[in-house]
Amino acid sequence: MKPETVLVTGGAGFIGSHTCVELLEAGNDVVVIDDYSNSHPSALDRVREITGKSFAVYEVDLRDRAGLSAVFEAHPIDSVIHFAAKKAVGESTQIPLEYFDINIGGTTNLIRTMHQHEVTRLVFSSSCSIYGDSSAAPLSEADPANPTNPYALSKWMCEQVLSQACVYIPELSVIALRYFNPIGAHPTGRLGEDPLGVPNNVMPYLSQIAVGRLTELSVFGDDYPTPDGTAIRDYIHVVDVADAHRVALEHLDDRDGFRVFNLGTGSGVSVLELVAAFSKACGKEIPHRIAGRRLGDVASLIADAANIDREWGWRTRRDLADMCRDAWNFQRQNPEGYPV
Ligand code: WQD
Repeated sequence: MKPETVLVTGGAGFIGSHTCVELLEAGNDVVVIDDYSNSHPSALDRVREITGKSFAVYEVDLRDRAGLSAVFEAHPIDSVIHFAAKKAVGESTQIPLEYFDINIGGTTNLIRTMHQHEVTRLVFSSSCSIYGDSSAAPLSEADPANPTNPYALSKWMCEQVLSQACVYIPELSVIALRYFNPIGAHPTGRLGEDPLGVPNNVMPYLSQIAVGRLTELSVFGDDYPTPDGTAIRDYIHVVDVADAHRVALEHLDDRDGFRVFNLGTGSGVSVLELVAAFSKACGKEIPHRIAGRRLGDVASLIADAANIDREWGWRTRRDLADMCRDAWNFQRQNPEGYPV
């Protein structure tokens, strides 16, 4: 594919930074915007270190129309990968309006600014959480949306905005990737998941226990209708997720319009199975206790990942052991996370 200039919103974040590595190593130019509300500028130093490449970075809030437009004026943007969003299920039930403002407002401002600058190619970070508490397992893109929390609703609303934009702006090409549960880290251990504050997500919580920063995992419920009673998720290696974004860019030109693809492995893992797998990877016992369910959680989310394979011949290449090994390798090398 001809090298492109790709605007990566949220490029300092967990998935964004890993995707920047894949894009740069594939010969693309990258322009990053991030407001650092849940990321570290030093993650971008690690991207430069791993790739040996330099790139422009702007500290911009996606809702800042002038600030965002200035970035489009400064660079010949060919396409956009949009990661920037708040993304914690539990947190979204506490601050729903912030989730709607940032996730939906930010996305709407982005697509509007793209249109003003005649940029018509977008890969959008969506989420399996829009399927809600579906009994269908595995979940296909044709399954109905039933968001059960403000985070999931915000992602579903963004898909609706983008899908409708494609109806009225025929030259637009948008691919939405519905991530299941990205975990793991770059194999060098120089890039990984380091959320600000106490982690909402299970894998950084586990790795911070293993490195001594936290003491015990609360397992949110063991009364789900699953084999061991704990909730099941489809964990996918973050480098597989990043690679899928590189491939999605190549397929934006297949046709115009709005397309959706699940991004998962097709295999489900319970919380207790994840605890055991991570404990094996780090060689340590992980103290944990059963607690109540978390508001907004669902029993099971497993991907039917057949579409992306059929359309693009793409599938995940890393398994749960790889994910746990790489997540631990990052945390072990960076006990306190990224340098501030
Ligand atoms: C996983 C499981 C929890 C913390 C994430 C992202 C979201 C989306 C989907 C991309 C659940 C349990 C967690 C803890 C626990 N990805 N858990 N104790 O909620 O599935 O959502 O993946 O868009 O952006 O947030 O991930 O890691 O929070 O939870 O028992 O301290 O672990 O109940 O069953 P979730 P998670």
